[in-house]
Amino acid sequence: MKPKIAAMNRLQSLSPDAAQHRARALLSHIEQAIADAGGWIAFDRYMELALYAPGLGYYAADPGVLGAWGGTSDFVTAPELTPLFAATLARQVADVSRLEGLDTIVECGAGSGRLACDLLAALDVQGWLPRQYAIVEVSAAMRARQQDAVARLPAHLRDRIKWWDALPDCFDGVVIGNEVLDAMPVKLAVRTTERWLERGVTFAGDPQQPLRWVDRATAMELRPSMQALPPGAVTELHLASDAFVATLGERLRRGLLLFLDYGFPAHEYDHPQRACGTLRCHRAHRAHDDPLWQPGTSDITAHVNFSSVAQAAASVGLDVLGYTSQARFLLNCGLLDVLGSAVAAGQDGVIGAPRNRAGLAQTAAVQRLLSEAEMGELFKVIALARGLRAPLMGFVQGDRSAALRSHVASEAAC
Ligand SMILES: C[S@@+](CC[C@H](N)C(=O)[O-])C[C@H]1O[C@@H](n2cnc3c(N)ncnc32)[C@H](O)[C@@H]1O
Repeated sequence: MKPKIAAMNRLQSLSPDAAQHRARALLSHIEQAIADAGGWIAFDRYMELALYAPGLGYYAADPGVLGAWGGTSDFVTAPELTPLFAATLARQVADVSRLEGLDTIVECGAGSGRLACDLLAALDVQGWLPRQYAIVEVSAAMRARQQDAVARLPAHLRDRIKWWDALPDCFDGVVIGNEVLDAMPVKLAVRTTERWLERGVTFAGDPQQPLRWVDRATAMELRPSMQALPPGAVTELHLASDAFVATLGERLRRGLLLFLDYGFPAHEYDHPQRACGTLRCHRAHRAHDDPLWQPGTSDITAHVNFSSVAQAAASVGLDVLGYTSQARFLLNCGLLDVLGSAVAAGQDGVIGAPRNRAGLAQTAAVQRLLSEAEMGELFKVIALARGLRAPLMGFVQGDRSAALRSHVASEAAC
């Protein structure tokens, strides 16, 4: 979980020397990219290099970036928090796959591989397994970490997992992506009193502060709701994640895309009170707001604009089958029953833990998944589909997809 991380611990994901060393190597690479581009790169290009430059970027250099609280990790995601997240998601995946005769799961941005392992184990317990579980992962270092995790699975689960180097031209199945859209590069737009500018990065040549913001005139297409933001506002445009959703949607012949992430619809995204934007960085379980500081040593993320995701999906003919909070989705899928069974069975993956402590740990993790003050409300789930008939269990109560549709309609009317 990233957005609510408290700055109150002494965890250290990288030693100061290792951080400086990593940042120096990536800085020379970024300096070269800026020089090649004539002295300025747009922020989305900078973010792509800072996170994914091969061997140097945040996700490309160090596969230890995410994981359980503590140790060398920088942040915790829902699947890392508790296997009950995967067990609950498995109910939705198995239900729709059985009803629709789908036999493939595709996971985008699989991180440590924890969700893949726990999801397959939970599906096995539920008595339904996919023919194949394909992982789409942009980072070679993360892929290696996933391979290590998968190697520990029993053979009848392990053998179903493969890595797709590229999406096939056409496939049927259920695609899942947890906290992947927020990790895709965004463009930054800055409002002056007269117009919008695009924010980018130049090389300042100052060893204390080698990178500097520079804003330039832009021909970027802006969303109408950005008019609500006041002069001085900074916000993000999600061209990369929209293109990613549209490409998945184009290739999906029949099936479901399920994205879980933090974010809002456009009218909330562009609320005047959010005039500083949503770009955030995370290192050692602390949040900071300077993506130019020691590049490659912090995660950089932006909240997801779910109206934009819905629009990208609609542009390739997908239907929005549901949009709701993570808490509502997990409750609809039976998280409390899953918790009850786990507590009764004394399972929590903590070897040798006394039963009552195991139950408490699981209950506390579920509380974080559901609480409005933590991941329950800020995190949303969106379901995008082609050719499906059945309603989805995760959205039977509390579906808010009308909020996305009304926004799409008002944008079209502008
Ligand atoms: C914040 S981590 C989330 C990992 C995992 N899903 C979880 O919830 O723990 C983002 C993951 O998405 C991957 N990623 C980012 N952009 C991607 C893309 N375009 N295609 C595939 N994977 C991507 C990153 O390398 C990383 O593994």
